[in-house]
Amino acid sequence: MKTIYTLSDLRDWKKRTRDVTPSIRLGVLGDPVTHSLSPEMQNAALQECDIAQQYAPFQIAPDELETAIRLLGELDFAGLNLTVPHKIAALAFVDEVEERARKIGAINTIVFREGKSLGWNTDGPGFERAIREEFSVDLRDLRILLLGAGGGAGRALAYQCARENCERLVLVNRTFEKAQVLARELAAYFSGPRVLGPEARLEAIRWEESALRTQLGRTDLVINATSLGLAPLDPSPLPHALIAPHHMIYDLICRKAPTRLLAAAAESGARGANGLAMLLHQGALAFELWFDRPAPLAAMRAALG
Ligand SMILES: NC(=O)c1ccc[n+]([C@@H]2O[C@H](COP(=O)([O-])OP(=O)(O)OC[C@H]3O[C@@H](n4cnc5c(N)ncnc54)[C@H](OP(=O)(O)O)[C@@H]3O)[C@@H](O)[C@H]2O)c1
Repeated sequence: MKTIYTLSDLRDWKKRTRDVTPSIRLGVLGDPVTHSLSPEMQNAALQECDIAQQYAPFQIAPDELETAIRLLGELDFAGLNLTVPHKIAALAFVDEVEERARKIGAINTIVFREGKSLGWNTDGPGFERAIREEFSVDLRDLRILLLGAGGGAGRALAYQCARENCERLVLVNRTFEKAQVLARELAAYFSGPRVLGPEARLEAIRWEESALRTQLGRTDLVINATSLGLAPLDPSPLPHALIAPHHMIYDLICRKAPTRLLAAAAESGARGANGLAMLLHQGALAFELWFDRPAPLAAMRAALG
């Protein structure tokens, strides 16, 4: 059983981790965090590169985040990852934010350097690599429907799709206003003409079955960037009947056992993939930011099983 640390451990860190070797200098902050596979993957990378440090999970509630980031910096950590629900809130608690991450409005990686905390976002490029690896396609050729567009990961993916000039992007979010705001931010990326039909290249739609049905008829790639599926009994974010054989379904949830969405995709004859390839690539990019050297991809992939 891996040890999960808390804010109270951080307040008494030297004493609580006196016997831990190599010392913990990296970690992931989440609420919940037990599901995270980043510790297994990053510890494999550290071992492979002979770096005498460990990476640990931290259960941190939203109202503890600011203090946790400050304490971790003071404790001379090398860096952090952020998972649900901290990616957007964390932006306010770092000293500097890389330009792309600032536009996205969310960070998934922090680098502590020379007394400062620097925020980055590796989710978008990690996602792009994962889609190429899983489906042998490039984002620019796709009509994409993104569920969970208002979350930290969803915003990063939407920006990546826009930068790659994808054919169409449909933004869907439980809280519709967040999808509308994002559509306004991304409008300039979609102003150019493309080959396909008269439909708008960028839309925000309400999370309603009839609206989804209309859009899914002209969608190639469906992405689940909601947190639905994190708990094994969570319902599928899409009704089974709306999934067709021509769809590619990318579910960001990182579980080997198929989520309800991926099980429905398989039953419908659609291609589907879980979030492990994205976890791998976003984690490799974070490792490269912390250590300024290539990440050992094979060892990290093997650790994810
Ligand atoms: N594979 C990877 O490498 C990778 C990387 C990043 C994230 N992820 C996964 O992506 C998911 C989102 O992460 P995040 O950091 O973006 O979290 P987040 O910032 O907390 O955003 C959560 C998103 O899920 C939506 N949501 C939550 N509960 C919902 C429900 N019951 N029905 C419909 N929508 C719901 C939220 O909608 P509202 O805006 O309406 O609240 C929001 O869009 C998580 O499952 C995370 O594990 C995976």
